[in-house]
Formats: sequence, structure tokens, C-alpha cells
Amino acid sequence: MLSRFEAIEGEAIGQIAAAKTLEELETVRLRYLSRKGELQQLLRKVGQLPVEHRPRVGEVANRVREAVQSAFDARRRELEAAEQMRILESEKIDVTMPGRIWRIGSLHPITQTINEICAIFTDLGFEVVEGPEVETEWHNFIALNMPPEHPARDEHDSFYITDQLLLRTETSAVQIMVMESRQPPIRIVSPGRVYRRDEVDRTHSHTFHQVEGLLVDEDVTFADLKGTLMTFARRFFGEDVKVRFRPHHFPFTEPSAEVDVSCLMCNGAGCPVCKHRGWVEVLGCGMVHPNVLRNVGYDIERWQGYAFGMGVERLAMLRYGIDDIRLFFENDLRFLRQFV
Ligand code: DAH
Repeated sequence: MLSRFEAIEGEAIGQIAAAKTLEELETVRLRYLSRKGELQQLLRKVGQLPVEHRPRVGEVANRVREAVQSAFDARRRELEAAEQMRILESEKIDVTMPGRIWRIGSLHPITQTINEICAIFTDLGFEVVEGPEVETEWHNFIALNMPPEHPARDEHDSFYITDQLLLRTETSAVQIMVMESRQPPIRIVSPGRVYRRDEVDRTHSHTFHQVEGLLVDEDVTFADLKGTLMTFARRFFGEDVKVRFRPHHFPFTEPSAEVDVSCLMCNGAGCPVCKHRGWVEVLGCGMVHPNVLRNVGYDIERWQGYAFGMGVERLAMLRYGIDDIRLFFENDLRFLRQFV
């Protein structure tokens, strides 16, 4: 029996040392140290020995059991430490790895352009006011000096909701809304979306954006209008831009003008963007027609005003060299990401 104990000791300690993983070590423990394991079985037999042999065998048995148990405990600590290291190694963070890029998006170029236009006019003392996209025939046409059957209405044939309600065809409708609800002096700009029943092509869209401007006060002249718009053009396009006022007709202003800026693409030399004219039209303007002032109940002997309306897409296209208006509405991220 003594030699059996010594043999088991040698075997068990050898296998414990050879165990490479905690699972292998567990197999060794089951084999020798568990209740049904070989060592325990043998220990149980010590009790059955003749009394005179028990002390000596018992002593050896206890020593062997402790030796195997402590070899086991030591190996388990080793393997657990190795396992910990392995986990730590596998979770090691490579701080030199590039991070994941979270795209946070950015404002649409049209929104950016509107913000910029409004910022310039805010600096000049104008207030930003927004109006509804569904408008009455009164605000959109009649009060703007375009009674039923007026030929100007054909120019932007419209999306009607009822006979008297339509999607606004121009932000000029906001002029009326503001003048009906306030007394002069008035100094507002109004950005927003407008709708016309237009075929879509490189330069036209049924939905686009305008910024309207209106100033009403005493002693307002065309010179004030000119100075304001020149200041705007220089801030928006750069100091070198040339600006020209060309006589035109709008039902709601008299006199009226269209404003051209020198083509930014060719510096006025002529190119496809300006159709070889060297100039590009960017807005309409004029002195508010007395009929419009009368329609909102203002005393035309005391108050005069000027108004203007510009196309936001047109301004953005010129400024960024974009040759197709549809790019603004297609949500192509390759296009939009250029405006972060
Ligand atoms: N509403 C005009 C358009 O859509 C632009 C415009 C011209 C607005 C002259 C004005 C103005 O306020 O006075 O073409």
C-alpha cells in the first residue's frame, strides 16, 4: 500500500505539472482528488488496515494527499494567471488604430445659402420673418396688384388647393401678410420655399427657394434700394463683383428693375453659365407700387418702400459653380458632403 501511495503521488504530480489548461487540470483532479478519485479511494482503505500498520501508512497517506493537493493548488494558480493574461492580451486596445468616423451631417447648401443671405440683411437692420407656404389668392396675387385675369399670373401657373388657396408662387406674398399686421417702419427679409408648375430641367424646378425683402418708411428712394442691394452683392459674391440694374416690369413695383451681377465663372468675358453675356440675373426689385400700399391700407402720401426677391438656388449655383439645379434636390451624399 505504501508503494501504491508513492506511485499515485508520482503519477498525480506528473499529470498536474503536465496539465496545460484548467480543463485538463480538472480532469486530473477528478481522477485523483475527487471523492471517487484514486487517492481518496486508497485513503479510505487505510481504515481497514490492521491497527499496527495504520499510523505509518496514515502518515504517508496524509503527506501524499497534501503534496498532491498543494501541487494541484499551485498549478491552478499558475493556469488561472495565464488565463487572465490571455484575456488581457486579447482585449488589448491598440491606441494607434484610427477611430471610427461618425458622420454628423451638415446643413443643406440651400439652407446654408439662406442663412448667409439672412445674416447679411440682419447686419443691415432687417428682421427675418417667415410666412406660410399655402397662401390665399389675395396675398399671393390680388393684393400684389395682380387681380384675376392679370397676364402676369400666367407666367407662374400655380398649384391650387381650392379656388382661393394655392401653394405660394413667390415669397412676395409675405409682404402683404406683414404689412397687414404692422405699421411702418418695416424692414424684413423672408426666406422660404415657393412652387410653380414648371417642367424640371437644369435650371428650373417646380419647387425652389426665394428670399424676399421689404422696406417701408418715410423718404425711401431708389438710391436706398440700390445701395442696399450693392452692399448685399459685394458681401455675398465678393468685393470685385460688378452689379447692374436693368429696367424691368413687375406688377407690384414701380419702377422695377432686374439686377445682374458680373459672371463669376468667366469674370464677364462670356461663358456657357452666363450664356456668353458676361452677366447673370440674380434678383428682381423696385419701389413698392402705390396700389400695393393702398391694398394694405397705408397712406401713400406718407410711406414709400422698396422690395426685392432673389432666387436662392440661382445664387448658390453661381457662387459654387453648380450647373444643374436638380443636384440640390436629389439627396446625393457625394454632392451634399462637399458643403460641410
Ligand atoms: N417675386 C418676383 C419673382 O418671383 C421677384 C421680385 C421682384 C420680388 C420684384 C420683389 C420685387 O419683391 O419687388 O420673380
